[in-house]
Amino acid sequence: MGDISIQIGPVRFKNPVFIASGICGYAEEYSPLVNLSRLGGVVTKTITMLPRAGNLPPRIHEMPHGMLNSIGLENVGLDRYVNEKLPQLNQRPDVGVMVSVAAETEDEFIKLAERFAPMDGYAGLELNLSCPNVKGEALDQGRNPQLVEKISRIVKERIPKKSLWIKVTPNITDVGTVARAAEQGGADAIAAVNTLVGIDFDLETGKPVFARGSAGYSGPAILPIALQKVWECAKAVSIPIVGIGGIATIDDARKFFLAGATAIQVGTSLYNDPGLPERIVDALAENPEWMRARARASASPAA
Ligand code: SIN
Repeated sequence: MGDISIQIGPVRFKNPVFIASGICGYAEEYSPLVNLSRLGGVVTKTITMLPRAGNLPPRIHEMPHGMLNSIGLENVGLDRYVNEKLPQLNQRPDVGVMVSVAAETEDEFIKLAERFAPMDGYAGLELNLSCPNVKGEALDQGRNPQLVEKISRIVKERIPKKSLWIKVTPNITDVGTVARAAEQGGADAIAAVNTLVGIDFDLETGKPVFARGSAGYSGPAILPIALQKVWECAKAVSIPIVGIGGIATIDDARKFFLAGATAIQVGTSLYNDPGLPERIVDALAENPEWMRARARASASPAA
């Protein structure tokens, strides 16, 4: 097995395969099924300063080619994450942890970053500027390039030795502009993309399935859209791109490298194929030159 380690900002990851945020909480449900140490890392469920109860049920709705979710950023909040969840994950020190965070204001982003700044036990922060299931907040931030640049800067300044990824929305005409703003703000990578805004209706009630109406659509159906957005980001920035969206096979993952990604995250497919990320690692490691020849310069092996 060859070296497929990658560099994203100041952090070296053992390989380019990550678990996307939101699918398996803080990884406790997933760790019995998979050897997390074999992956590049796990992006944990987005946390906020204070705990959030999330949206009213139902929150998940399966469709023929994907899934709608309306979780609403339910999470345990910063304190419990730092005191309980992260130490639990850190019992296995070889698991790479990226912490997904969201905040309503710049001041909250500063507070979150300052809390993480002196800490060990995590590789970096992924800023969720793209959740479609909360009022205002995250999705709107991610549609405003000036704000994306500013938030990236105020967080990166406080965690210079950690990796900073900005998770962008596909629900925008020009994702490249937002990616460029994140790069200008000092982000180390663009995580592209979050879910697409979608809706479904209950034919009996005549109402939307979810209390909020629209929700976030993920799964195999969004693969070509995610590839397109990664491709657009790759043309707009020179920092690495972490491709996310619809990966259900090893070949799907390979396509993200062709589109310009340096790493990938597997999300919705974990529900029916928890072993997929490990198989992608194995496939890439069997032929490290393939990935290296196609991925961007940052994917070169460690010196
Ligand atoms: C959610 O918690 O609603 C999903 C997270 C996201 O789409 O960012």
